[in-house]
Amino acid sequence: MNFTDATHKSENDKRVFLNASKNVNGKTSLMAKEFFDGLSYQQVNLADYDIPQIGKGRGEYEKVWKQVKNADVLLIGTPIYWSDVSGYLKTFMDHLDVSDDLNGADFYVIAQGMAIDQSEAVHTIYGSLSHFASRFGMNFIGIASTEGEVAQLSEKLQ
Ligand SMILES: Cc1cc2nc3c(=O)[nH]c(=O)nc-3n(C[C@H](O)[C@H](O)[C@H](O)COP(=O)(O)O)c2cc1C
Repeated sequence: MNFTDATHKSENDKRVFLNASKNVNGKTSLMAKEFFDGLSYQQVNLADYDIPQIGKGRGEYEKVWKQVKNADVLLIGTPIYWSDVSGYLKTFMDHLDVSDDLNGADFYVIAQGMAIDQSEAVHTIYGSLSHFASRFGMNFIGIASTEGEVAQLSEKLQ
């Protein structure tokens, strides 16, 4: 995959990792750590919050959004479930209200799973997450699904 150039490379940037894995310290989280490569970041684990399906109340959605909004660098990390993002992420996204709160942010994605060839899953995930990026005015840098791609994506940040 070709990655776009980043616009935020300052030490004072607000860097947020939204972890959409059920495992707070699983492979998704480990790859995010590799991605940031020593830079500081705030990790927000969707699994630590109770966010119901849309139509069943907001639950703790606002608590998560407050931490994510105004990020200069947003990394979403998701395990691949059924060739798509995790339900944690999809449920969170279903609650989003389009706003200017992420306008101009650099947006990175790590989507990883067990299979060797993730091209179909990445294609699917690219569709919904590029829609998310464009509605929020973010600069979509790209999706990494392997360790090698995480290293390449990380170069865009440095
Ligand atoms: C419900 C479920 C569905 C999954 N579907 C896929 C899949 O479609 N393709 C794949 O490569 N891996 C799939 N996996 C494997 C996970 O993506 C993989 O174990 C991932 O590394 C988990 O990340 P984590 O350590 O952050 O939880 C699935 C796992 C679960 C629990």
